[in-house]
Parts: sequence; structure tokens; C-alpha cells
Amino acid sequence: MSTSSSEALEAQKRAAAEAAAEEVQDGMLVGLGTGSTVAYLLPALAARKLKDIRCVATSDATERIGIELGLAVEPFDALDHLDLAIDGADQIAPDGWVVKGGGGAHTREKVVAAAADRFVVIADETKVVESISAPIPLELLSFGLPATLAALVPTVVRDGAPPSPDGGVIADYGGDLSDVAAVATLLSTTPGVVDHGLFPPELTSAVIVAHGDGRIERRIY
Ligand code: A5P
Repeated sequence: MSTSSSEALEAQKRAAAEAAAEEVQDGMLVGLGTGSTVAYLLPALAARKLKDIRCVATSDATERIGIELGLAVEPFDALDHLDLAIDGADQIAPDGWVVKGGGGAHTREKVVAAAADRFVVIADETKVVESISAPIPLELLSFGLPATLAALVPTVVRDGAPPSPDGGVIADYGGDLSDVAAVATLLSTTPGVVDHGLFPPELTSAVIVAHGDGRIERRIY
């Protein structure tokens, strides 16, 4: 990718993140995602100087940066619901299926998204796809790992990926995705799978995609 197109991509990530930051209001309980798009959300949110917002983070990196920026980030053990969660994505399909977990944080990301009244996905235009394709990120228990991998051929442990903060093994499922819902069911029902990166349409409230021409597209579900 050329420098200019990489700069254009960063501008899109920033624009989507800044649009989502505007949706946060005083007093909200907010879930913060993980990744390079969320990296633009955190300063945008901090700059708004909102009153009494409380945040939970989906990764140690987000927690550290959020706290450095002055956001009130707390462990996700005292709140039982969130008003709004905002996170990036790896793939966004026209039917609302979203793939997450390029950074291996999808298990915590799904817990946070599911706890929120509204889950908003932010992305640059490269994340918009015509149909979902492999790989699908997985978090697997290390106990019985070879048996879990054998049940999910073709799945490979992600090279060089550190364990999740909860000790899970990060892997990627490389099978056929022509029936996404069926694959999600397969992954959800295979023992040893902690969680997978397929986020169903009903989990997402809105998608904000920033395009190269400056347009901010909002898909509301
Ligand atoms: C983290 O595990 C992921 O789910 C990210 O949210 C996703 O990969 C998007 O990341 P970027 O914003 O860095 O593309």
C-alpha cells in the first residue's frame, strides 16, 4: 500500500471513530473496543470531556491508553450492562454479519457488545465486503487443543499470537463460509471453542463506514 493510500485509510478510520464518539452522552456506560480504528475513538472521546461516563475496555491496550487519556476505565466486574459499545471490524457484510478478532480480542469484544443496549461498528471502507470469507478468528481452550483443532479442520493456531488475556489460544478457521449462520453454529457448539469472531446481525445496532471520498455511511439495523 502506498503512503498516500495508507494515509487515506487512517483518515477514514479517524472519521468513523470521531462520528461514533459523537454518539456518547453524559452519564453513559460505554464499552471500548480494540484495534487501530478504536485507537482514534479514544482521543476523540476524551476530547469531548463528557460528564460521568464510565468505560470498560476489551483489551489491556485499550484500558491503558484510555486511562492515559483521562477516561474512567474500570474492570468489567461491577457493571451488568452498558449503554453503548463501539468497536472496529475486519469484515462487514451487506446482511449485517461482522467478523472481528484480527487482534485476537473477539471473545471480550463479543461479551461487551452483547452487554450493550447499542453496539456500533466503526470502519474504513476496506472492511466492507460482498460476502464473509475465511479466516474466522477463534479463541480455543488450551486443554484438549489437538482434539478441538481436529474437530474444526481446517483450523490453524495463529502464528506468533499471544494468548488472550483469559489464557485462550488464538486460532483461525479456514473453512467454507457460504452458509455463515451454519458456521457460526458449528463454532459455537464445538467443545473447546471459547468464542469465535462471527458477530451475528442482531448484535449490531449500527455500522459507521468512512469512505475515501469523505462520505460517512451509516447502516442502521
Ligand atoms: C480485535 O481483536 C479486532 O476485533 C478488531 O476490532 C478488528 O480486528 C478491527 O481492527 P482494526 O480497527 O485495527 O482494523
